[in-house]
Amino acid sequence: MAERIEVLLSEEEVNARIREMGEQISKDYAGKNIHLICILKGASFFMCELAKRIDIPVSIDFMSVSSYGESTESSGEIKIKKDLEEPLEGKHVLIVEDIVDTGKTLQYLMGLMKERGAEDVKLCALLDKPDRRLVDVKADYTGFQIPDEFVVGYGLDYAQRHRNLPYIGVVKFD
Ligand code: IMP
Ligand code: MG
Repeated sequence: MAERIEVLLSEEEVNARIREMGEQISKDYAGKNIHLICILKGASFFMCELAKRIDIPVSIDFMSVSSYGESTESSGEIKIKKDLEEPLEGKHVLIVEDIVDTGKTLQYLMGLMKERGAEDVKLCALLDKPDRRLVDVKADYTGFQIPDEFVVGYGLDYAQRHRNLPYIGVVKFD
């Protein structure tokens, strides 16, 4: 089966939107320190670009949770593969995710961060597929709403490939 990638959001569009998100976040959190939690691996490209566009004090940490494995369907079960290094007590946590799909990952993570004593927890996602939502989760900051198609690039993978594409594309099988 031949595989090709159609551009959905160009590199310029994505970067311009991330710049806007960074400005908005800087305004909303003015006077505070913000603790960004990057959900590996998908959100890593987005977080780096976003962090550079935030002009208030930022600290960062990383977490890895299980997602789809080699498939394009969520297993529904969430496991921590790599935990945070820094404590969360009293911090203004902003979870940075690549995409909100069913919402299960973020629902789980929100609960976990609150349990661990964060002062407040908000969500920031580059992409949102609202048609696929199974649980009631809404990101506080969303880059783009996209249709129900499997996307890759800008950190997102299909079986660990295509993360390095500088744009968001849809995988097509001909
Ligand atoms: P959720 O728990 O169903 O919301 O799943 C979120 C995770 O599934 C994301 O962090 C991605 O790793 C993965 N995912 C969901 N949709 C896509 C997609 O279109 N392309 C690549 N990964 C996706
Ligand atoms: Mg992910």
